[in-house]
Amino acid sequence: MSGAEAEAPDQVRGAPDYESLVQRVAALVEGEPDIVAKMATVACEVYWSDGRFDWTGFYRVVAPELLKIGPYQGGHGCLVIPFSRGVCGAAARTGEVQIVPDVDAFPGHIACASTTRSEIVLPVLDADGQLLGVFDIDSDRPDAFDDRDAAGLRRVLEVAFGGKDA
Ligand code: SME
Repeated sequence: MSGAEAEAPDQVRGAPDYESLVQRVAALVEGEPDIVAKMATVACEVYWSDGRFDWTGFYRVVAPELLKIGPYQGGHGCLVIPFSRGVCGAAARTGEVQIVPDVDAFPGHIACASTTRSEIVLPVLDADGQLLGVFDIDSDRPDAFDDRDAAGLRRVLEVAFGGKDA
């Protein structure tokens, strides 16, 4: 299979060029220690990178087992999410990426927008492996996310918050 053929499914699906996104985010946040400034930059860059992404944003760990809204792009996001609730809570609780192809089938999903059909939520870790919060992306398309998104977005978060090189 030629390189062009191998890339075709991603282009049809509209996945962003994650390598470019990683490089851009790394350049923008280089030397910036402020976590909220970095979250705002990542939420913006990811939001505008792909038409599938309706809402991008962070929920920050502000107390034991408690997430609070951070920087985001898109419509109104709910303010507080306990670790025990929703897809964001599951990502914070388990430390694992959550890919939800159908939000209506996820027990305890918190509906901030009735248009949301699917979502992906990744844990956000600092360089010491400490949980800073979660990064939530919602889509109005069903089954919008897969492992390629998880891998690409994980890299974006690593260069922004984990002190890893691009
Ligand atoms: N998707 C989340 C709720 C937050 S909003 O979608 C912005 C959840 O169920 O965890």
